Amino acid sequence: MSKPKIAIVVGSTRPGRFADHPAQWIFDRARAKADFDVELVDLRDFALPLFDESTSPAYAPVESEAAKAWQDKVAEFDGFIFTAAEYNRGPTAVLKNALDYAYAQWNGKTAAFVGYGGVGGARAIEQLRLNAIELQMAPIRNGVHIMFPVYMDVVKNGKKLADFDYLNESADALLDQLGWWTSALKSARAADAATAKAA
Ligand SMILES: Cc1cc2nc3c(=O)[nH]c(=O)nc-3n(C[C@H](O)[C@H](O)[C@H](O)COP(=O)(O)O)c2cc1C
Repeated sequence: MSKPKIAIVVGSTRPGRFADHPAQWIFDRARAKADFDVELVDLRDFALPLFDESTSPAYAPVESEAAKAWQDKVAEFDGFIFTAAEYNRGPTAVLKNALDYAYAQWNGKTAAFVGYGGVGGARAIEQLRLNAIELQMAPIRNGVHIMFPVYMDVVKNGKKLADFDYLNESADALLDQLGWWTSALKSARAADAATAKAA
């Protein structure tokens, strides 16, 4: 079986976003691992409108070209690492909207989160884990939490996320868990597909 494919989804789109720092850092660390392929996926490149379909993607194909392009992209991957900013103690609207725009393309795949902010994005990540469950994803236990002093060191003092040992360690633990679950689920989905084909 081919190597699992992991997307690093950049989960905020505002000008001057911090998200590029965690996205690039976790991308570099993930790419150093041999057990999966990895690609950066930027929500800025998809320009999804605020959810505007007549039916949930759980029940009917989407109609808009933007939604189709997004679903096709999501379908390429076996697992996802989302950067998770915290806006008013929840996820960014743009990321929640992107989750809402697909369904089957998320099913049976993994979700992991790299959060940042006052409490390392923890409150947004907890909400995103619940969203992921509804999408029939498997959110993994380990997350990365970039705490406020580190965030400020990067923004104001020119530090890099890779300078912080606790972050590198938590990233590696996340990637190890993600690799295990993503491979397990990829095999399970392949077995389902083979059974369906034989029936
Ligand atoms: C609308 C808005 C609401 C915010 N609310 C929170 C919050 O509830 N908790 C928090 O830790 N940070 C909050 N922040 C600060 C963000 O953590 C910080 O701006 C971060 O850089 C946002 O991610 P981004 O730069 O990738 O958009 C908020 C920022 C914005 C723009």
